[in-house]
Amino acid sequence: MPFSQTEIEEEQAHFAQVISTFKQYAAYSLAANNRRRKDLFTLPRADQELLDSLGYKEKLAQADRAILTNAAFLNTIVANPEIFGHDLDVEEEASEQQQEGQNKQQKIQAPSHSHSHGHTHGSHSHSHSHGDPQASMHNASADNAQSKQQPHRPSDFDMDRLRSTLKQFVRDWSEEGRAEREVCYVPIRDALLDHFAHVSIEERRKLRVLVPGAGLGRLAWDVANLGFACQGNEFSHYMLLASYYILNRTDSINEHTIFPYVHSFSNLPNSVAMLRPIAIPDVLPSSLPPGSDFSLVAGDFEEIYGADDKEGEPHAGQWDAILTCFFIDTAKNIVNYLRIIHRILAPGGVWINLGPLLWHFENNSTNDTSIELSLEEVTNLARKIGFQVTHERSIGTTYTNNAQSMLGYVYHAAFWRATKAH
Ligand SMILES: C[S@@+](CC[C@H](N)C(=O)[O-])C[C@H]1O[C@@H](n2cnc3c(N)ncnc32)[C@H](O)[C@@H]1O
Repeated sequence: MPFSQTEIEEEQAHFAQVISTFKQYAAYSLAANNRRRKDLFTLPRADQELLDSLGYKEKLAQADRAILTNAAFLNTIVANPEIFGHDLDVEEEASEQQQEGQNKQQKIQAPSHSHSHGHTHGSHSHSHSHGDPQASMHNASADNAQSKQQPHRPSDFDMDRLRSTLKQFVRDWSEEGRAEREVCYVPIRDALLDHFAHVSIEERRKLRVLVPGAGLGRLAWDVANLGFACQGNEFSHYMLLASYYILNRTDSINEHTIFPYVHSFSNLPNSVAMLRPIAIPDVLPSSLPPGSDFSLVAGDFEEIYGADDKEGEPHAGQWDAILTCFFIDTAKNIVNYLRIIHRILAPGGVWINLGPLLWHFENNSTNDTSIELSLEEVTNLARKIGFQVTHERSIGTTYTNNAQSMLGYVYHAAFWRATKAH
């Protein structure tokens, strides 16, 4: 479906604003830390001295240094934004996507389009949200209008997306994140291997696996590493920029150091819990076996995989496995998500899901549709749409929490496998 000039311009404007958010991270975050310093100076001298004796001032200085280290990393990610092809003709990109979906190793294809969703976070506080779900949700018309008038000033909402991206690096690409990955990704991988246990390793490459809402791409990468042909799909510019960088511009294990927990001083048992460095990546992303088939496709899941064009439905029956991890609750209309998953799943294929139901559009302030079902309703809906749902269980898991925080959210995530009953 071709995009209108306005849509293309809105998309370009949003992309420019995401880049600008990356670039303004240092100034924004240092200013937040400086507020603490200023507050300290408002105290009576005796109190200041007492706090100083605890090392509070030094902690603020360390936080500044950690922020500057993060900033250097984030600036490197956006040093060459043209790789995202925003100078390219968007329609050309979309058709390239169809043709190049296969035979790509570690390549993010140029964004087809990530739709504009004006959305504020509603009732979900950022510490509670599972990561970066609203990362690319923005009010592009407003963005566009703003960009024509004055330089973009990132909102706290924009910065929150960026801070979440740093934490997402921990989840997907650090040793620290291993425990969380083992809880979330291992059951999905095991279910995939079990469903295709009759297929030899050599034959796995013929099986096409889709990971919608791929985040920073680790689950998709792991699946490609097992020998399957795997495609991730993601629409957040924050995620796309970050995953492109880690997948395509990383030369060694633990090449980068970030301080993802430096932005909040709350609920810390000690300073280390906030100031500990995290090294990334824990594996070399370029180390996939020769001939691996791994790609990330940029764009909206519903637009890309739910598309029907003159030739029919290009994705219908094309995917042997669809892995949704912390994804289905990003739907405005879960019925459409499930219909698409059902339509594009190949006969004999499997849909494996793990995640909570933190409906991302609940309480949105932009009049977006939001259908919010209970778990029982979602699985009943899946059955009515034509799935046979099996292996249902609940898995307790965190999502990008600071493991050393005094506060931790645990999701009782729903896991299931589903095959096409009809
Ligand atoms: C909660 S995150 C989960 C990321 C990853 N699956 C994981 O487990 O770490 C949900 C992801 O889905 C992406 N997303 C949400 N709606 C999407 C859509 N319609 N199309 C593509 N990606 C989407 C978000 O940008 C976000 O990266």
